[in-house]
Amino acid sequence: MAEKILIASGKGGVGKSTITSFLGKTIADSGKKVLLIDSDTGLGALDIMLSVADKKMNTWTDVSDGNCNMENAIIQISENLYLLPSPSNYPASIDEDVFVKITKECENDFDMILIDASAGIDENLKRAAKSCDRAIFIATADEISVKCAAAAAAEAEKFGIDRADMRLVINRFVKKAAMKAKLLNVDGVIDKSGVRLLGIIPEDKKIPYSSVTSVLPAKKSSFCKAIKRITDRIDGKNIPLSLKELK
Ligand SMILES: Nc1ncnc2c1ncn2[C@@H]1O[C@H](COP(=O)(O)OP(=O)(O)O)[C@@H](O)[C@H]1O
Ligand SMILES: [Mg+2]
Repeated sequence: MAEKILIASGKGGVGKSTITSFLGKTIADSGKKVLLIDSDTGLGALDIMLSVADKKMNTWTDVSDGNCNMENAIIQISENLYLLPSPSNYPASIDEDVFVKITKECENDFDMILIDASAGIDENLKRAAKSCDRAIFIATADEISVKCAAAAAAEAEKFGIDRADMRLVINRFVKKAAMKAKLLNVDGVIDKSGVRLLGIIPEDKKIPYSSVTSVLPAKKSSFCKAIKRITDRIDGKNIPLSLKELK
């Protein structure tokens, strides 16, 4: 049965969709069958990041409204990677249990379901959180982003995700800036978020281009190595955290 993981942050633009797509690709490359659900109504990005935006797509609202069945909405991206896209508009009403129902219907067909949350702490987050067993919160190493991640974690807890099943990823980390105390250091981020650290992903200037072209960063880049360590930790492997690996 698929494990269902929410990727959220509260704040926008911190890397949820980027990390969802790279975690998805990396876990799929390891042989597990992965479904990514883009829950971001109106502002979904995974179709572009996964280079399928030019296809005519059904979305999870089409499934929920009975306009199509699940097989006609889920798009295969690569051998083990699949996407359920989000609607490009903001529907007037959305079933509060839409993702509970969708993940239930799909859980036997996948090893892992990752739900890319939208920004904000609202009904969108509630719908996504309700359907997940675990959550990964993404924050950059600054006070505002960490405060938002902490608030999102508190909300997700209300919606049924246990704090023990929550982890934090610090994204776009620049060691030099953190050391010069322009940003929070790693301990500061962990203390202020109240969520256990899962991993740190470095700033990589190639990523914004890679998101909109299909040119991927090299497997040996610090970014990809950081993603791999995170997927190994999700898999239960004991990979020590080390700042030495980050540039
Ligand atoms: N580690 C990183 N290094 C450099 N740029 C990044 C990194 N992670 C994300 N970005 C960039 O940050 C921007 C926002 O990322 P996105 O995944 O869309 O955020 P969110 O889904 O949280 O709104 C994008 O331009 C993306 O390419
Ligand atoms: Mg996004």
